[in-house]
Amino acid sequence: MTDRRLGVCYYPEHWPEDRWPEDAARMARAGIGVVRIGEFAWSRLEPSPGDFRFDWLDRAMDTLGRAGLSVVLGTPSATPPRWMLDLYPDMVPVDAAGRPRGFGSRRHYDFAHAGYRAEAARMAERLARRYGRHGALAAWQTDNEYGCHDTTQAFGPVAARAFRDWLAARYGSVEALNAAWGNVFWSMEYQDFAQIAPPNLTVTEPNPAHAMDWHRFASDQVVAFNRAQVAAIRAHSDRPILHNYMGRITDFDHWQVGADLDIATWDSYPIGFLSDRLEADPDHKRRFLRQGDPDFQAFHHDLYRGVGRGRWWVMEQQPGPVNWAPWNPAPLPGMVRLWTWEAFAHGAEVVSYFRWRQAPFAQEQMHAGLLRPDGAPAPALAEVETVAAELSALDPGAPVRGDVAIVFDYASAWATKIQPQGADFDYFRLVFDTYRAFRRAGLSVDVIGPETADLSPWALVAMPGLFTLSPALGAALARVAAQPSDAAAPTRILAGPRTNWRTPDFAIPEPLPPALPGLDLRVARVESLPPSAPVPVRGGGALLRWFEHLEGTATVTLATADGAPAAVESGAITYLAGWPDEALFDRLVAGLAARQGLRTSAMPDGLRRRRTAAGDVLLNYAPEPREHAGRTVPAAGVLLPGT
Ligand code: GAL
Repeated sequence: MTDRRLGVCYYPEHWPEDRWPEDAARMARAGIGVVRIGEFAWSRLEPSPGDFRFDWLDRAMDTLGRAGLSVVLGTPSATPPRWMLDLYPDMVPVDAAGRPRGFGSRRHYDFAHAGYRAEAARMAERLARRYGRHGALAAWQTDNEYGCHDTTQAFGPVAARAFRDWLAARYGSVEALNAAWGNVFWSMEYQDFAQIAPPNLTVTEPNPAHAMDWHRFASDQVVAFNRAQVAAIRAHSDRPILHNYMGRITDFDHWQVGADLDIATWDSYPIGFLSDRLEADPDHKRRFLRQGDPDFQAFHHDLYRGVGRGRWWVMEQQPGPVNWAPWNPAPLPGMVRLWTWEAFAHGAEVVSYFRWRQAPFAQEQMHAGLLRPDGAPAPALAEVETVAAELSALDPGAPVRGDVAIVFDYASAWATKIQPQGADFDYFRLVFDTYRAFRRAGLSVDVIGPETADLSPWALVAMPGLFTLSPALGAALARVAAQPSDAAAPTRILAGPRTNWRTPDFAIPEPLPPALPGLDLRVARVESLPPSAPVPVRGGGALLRWFEHLEGTATVTLATADGAPAAVESGAITYLAGWPDEALFDRLVAGLAARQGLRTSAMPDGLRRRRTAAGDVLLNYAPEPREHAGRTVPAAGVLLPGT
């Protein structure tokens, strides 16, 4: 038997009540064990202030429970009801152009609004009091997709006031703020915190230190908003609390939100993401049009396993065409099964599909479900049933430790957005390119946070693009640097480009970056380069986008065609002077992995493997069969261990 389960998102308030028992029974028959409900239901839970209507939710919970289903109950704070805006007209977020955003969809609130934050916590508390120990309740979900629809930052008077308070608490005096930000430059000095505004609408770019604090502030508001609900729930319920994060959303610190929660979950829409959220050449997009990118989902599985400290789910899995990408093709037959197994191979406890039945009304009419709007099965349902049957025969087991790790840091994403220096320098993309290189070599990867205090579990740890080194990570690096400096170093670091490149106040540090322990190395000068100007590297491959002129005594291990250092090394640290293209990344990873004794193999295009406790799972995103280690993996197919 397995403790991996399938789930589905369900909206009892969208359907006549006499259909609920039939839906529940059918879910159970399909092998579904978990149902998420409630996250948008505020107007039905409290139709007017203080008028609570829990009777229907009582019946929904009981109906699902009677069918043997476990419930994840969402707090409805992503959808404040209309009357809330009459109580708090200033709660709507103001966009960067200064325009208030309106009612009529969702997420129409500013995280910094104290009144709304209290209302959201109050509703969470009411729900927790009523359902906190309900027999069918498996877990709580706070809100829905923090940051979705570009809502992490709001620029109105409410946020501006909260920002000033946040700055006063951080700096103590306006003189300290002026010094930290370097406000003498362009006479930007303030006499009082009351004069400080959010950094939108400045004539030209704002001071990067100002922009960085704005990002930190906005992220802290998400953390505090979530924490208020968590506290309200924990007071009345012993069930785990989770949130459903998104793909490639970097504008708040998920590690910090995750620290207050028990489980991390995310919403995986592979085909939507390929067309909407990924830079790739047109051939790649054409080739994987109906499958999604072979690494994008896996990256987030590994990221959220880290954010959840080992416990993570897919809360919303794409089951068919979605409605929100520029184009919305249908998955190849087999892909719903593949995506599901991929998540389990990366250690997911639950994979839950969005949604049970396609909605015939309102915004998401064009979004597939497991059932069509008329209740007939959509194509995904049969694949879900297949996985359910397979799961009862095979348990991939608890997640195993990756061969290698990559540090992922939200502050670095903000810093790079604030000061990209080159039009196509994007932190997520740099980390993701590194991740892909590891996957092309068949390695299993862990994504770790910037506060990681021990790097010794991994043979190889990459930390490209890190804005600063936290004291914990700095100390961990110092311990790595102090290992005996021979080729058999137990942990090896791949740093650069742009690692440890600013102080926390967003100034150029002295000594110059990267200032890594045991590495005599300074970045003397940096250039950003257009796509037409790669820097060729001797032996094959090139550096793209970014080139650092390095000085110091570290050994040059790769040189550009012109003889400048492209990679240097000292002890257990390798430092890269630029952003490797695929060919160079493949060379580098193969070389480093071999030195570290890691098992690599060049994976054929579209084929990926992930190590599990039960053995390797092979996943073929390609539209044709693929060979690996003497076995054939069908197009859009999966080979499970022992099959
Ligand atoms: C997610 C969201 C769901 C639904 C879905 C459609 O972003 O959490 O509520 O809108 O997208 O793909």
